[in-house]
Amino acid sequence: MKAALLVESLTGNTWSAAEMIADNLSQEGWTITGLSKVRQPDHASIQAADVVLVGTWTHGLFLVGQSPWALPSISNLPTMRTKTAAVFLTYAIDAGKSLDKLTGAVGATGADVIGGLLIKRNHLRAHTEAFAERLIAALPANA
Ligand SMILES: Cc1cc2nc3c(=O)[nH]c(=O)nc-3n(C[C@H](O)[C@H](O)[C@H](O)COP(=O)(O)O)c2cc1C
Repeated sequence: MKAALLVESLTGNTWSAAEMIADNLSQEGWTITGLSKVRQPDHASIQAADVVLVGTWTHGLFLVGQSPWALPSISNLPTMRTKTAAVFLTYAIDAGKSLDKLTGAVGATGADVIGGLLIKRNHLRAHTEAFAERLIAALPANA
């Protein structure tokens, strides 16, 4: 399988999470077509991918008003009607309904969003491993 990653990150956690996910997938034989920023997406990597992984971080007042950062930019990504997608969202304490909002925004591009996972910023390694494992289970190579 070929995956492209699109990420929005302020302090680096989400970018690190994306790199860990890419490493995990590569170790399982997947090809990473590219890792780029949501606001400067690498179109060629999206085009070459079977699945597009979109990650951002939770912004809010920690217990209320949470939303995925850069939601409008995510909704306005180039059309991904022919793509499968999955989302991930880093957070510190409580992400509220941010994962649903992120799923909706990526769905607005036309992609078929098969799922998403919250990644707690102090558990990046364990949670990114879980994300990669679930993705591989959901999209077996010969499906
Ligand atoms: C301005 C600001 C607001 C935040 N609001 C929340 C929040 O409402 N809930 C939460 O769980 N984490 C919140 N966080 C924590 C970030 O979501 C978390 O640190 C995330 O991993 C940052 O990702 P990044 O390093 O890729 O920028 C906030 C961080 C910042 C800087």
